[in-house]
Amino acid sequence: MGRRALRQVDPRIDLSPYLHLAQQLPAAWDSGFFFDQSAPLEIEVGSGKGLFISTEPAARPDRNFLGIEIAAGYAKYAAARIARRGLHNARMISGDAAPIFRERLPSSSIAAVHIYFPDPWWKKRHRKRRIMRPDFLQQIDRVLQPAGRLHFWTDVQEYFEESMQTIAESVRWHGPFPVPIRQPSHDLDYRTHFERRMRLHSHLVYRAEFQKS
Ligand SMILES: C[S@@+](CC[C@H](N)C(=O)[O-])C[C@H]1O[C@@H](n2cnc3c(N)ncnc32)[C@H](O)[C@@H]1O
Repeated sequence: MGRRALRQVDPRIDLSPYLHLAQQLPAAWDSGFFFDQSAPLEIEVGSGKGLFISTEPAARPDRNFLGIEIAAGYAKYAAARIARRGLHNARMISGDAAPIFRERLPSSSIAAVHIYFPDPWWKKRHRKRRIMRPDFLQQIDRVLQPAGRLHFWTDVQEYFEESMQTIAESVRWHGPFPVPIRQPSHDLDYRTHFERRMRLHSHLVYRAEFQKS
């Protein structure tokens, strides 16, 4: 399923508090660089148009949320969505999540990682680009606090099954725990835009949650 062109972000919105470029992050990781409040930190990898990163933080103001999005236009779009809501506890990083996990995030520092509908990289020779690969899962394991959680959803059954296998082989987590399916109460009452699209097209969504020991 292709992606539609993004609407332009209103140039009058000041994105500076909400959007940070990966290459301009401070050398030493400091949550205070992003947030005024000290709170457990949750990270979303691949925020896309930013539905999750602009709704979940509004519902859970006592937690901080950081979205990392590699496509600059989407990172900006998601940041604008956060800015319009004036959220104090949600920020975007424009950049690649892999080096940020590998080189920036301290061990045992993150309360939860969210990965929703990661790019499936259909062609066999491109599979190694998938984010649910052993080295990245080991980084998630390293940065999660004890009892920290990974939330992983996809519409691609083969990717889901392969990921369950890779998780079983790469890390020692509890799970997968089943995730209940909620009925939406309005048109944007979905976890992400991709969940919305899949459900409106009656595609199955595979959901799993894991907990670090
Ligand atoms: C299929 S989209 C899903 C977007 C959103 N999670 C949703 O469910 O609507 C996958 C997103 O992950 C982003 N992405 C892919 N690789 C990434 C990486 N290494 N770091 C950060 N974002 C990445 C893509 O640019 C894209 O926006």
